[in-house]
Amino acid sequence: MPLEAEIEQLHRKYAPDDQAYELVFTHCQIVAEIAAWCAEQVSEQVDTKLLRAAALLHDLGSYAFYHADAPKRFDHKLYLQHALLGAKLLSDEGFTEVAAIVETHSLLGLTKQEIIDCPFPLPARDYVPKTIEGELLCYADCFHSKKPTFNDFDAFLAGLKQTLPHQAEKFEEMSKRFGIPDIAALAKKHNQPIRSDYTYTKPK
Ligand SMILES: [Fe+2]
Repeated sequence: MPLEAEIEQLHRKYAPDDQAYELVFTHCQIVAEIAAWCAEQVSEQVDTKLLRAAALLHDLGSYAFYHADAPKRFDHKLYLQHALLGAKLLSDEGFTEVAAIVETHSLLGLTKQEIIDCPFPLPARDYVPKTIEGELLCYADCFHSKKPTFNDFDAFLAGLKQTLPHQAEKFEEMSKRFGIPDIAALAKKHNQPIRSDYTYTKPK
């Protein structure tokens, strides 16, 4: 399990510049904060250290999209692969337990059938969290975007319902287990706006 100092070093190692580091690492810290709150709402046993490490590192693969010479910066289609890339980097760094959680953090977890049906630009296999820590990461990540903005629960759910109804079902189910974080309070604390018009554009 990586220590906090190692986590920061990994961000420094893969961030192309200070701006990207600040944006991605801050997002990861906010997601870790939300995930920790959600973990307190469940009766199941949660490995909070593993959850925190995974949340703090979950978007390590997104730095590739912040390079000035990235060919298609924030190409929605390619960006979905950041979870796979992050998992590969973390696995190569020796953090296999964290890598497994990071690999399944796209949306609320994607099944092979969802990838084929959409279709999502990912190798067609299951990317479904196998642990509660993995589920908590998926769920917590929905409430904050690297714009940076917070996502309102109802707006996020409505956006998913429009384009990905199966994901909306998963999000709603998880909210019953993990609670709904106080996004207004978090937005105030971090001095960031709340996005109330979430839409998920399907990859074409
Ligand atoms: Fe994220």
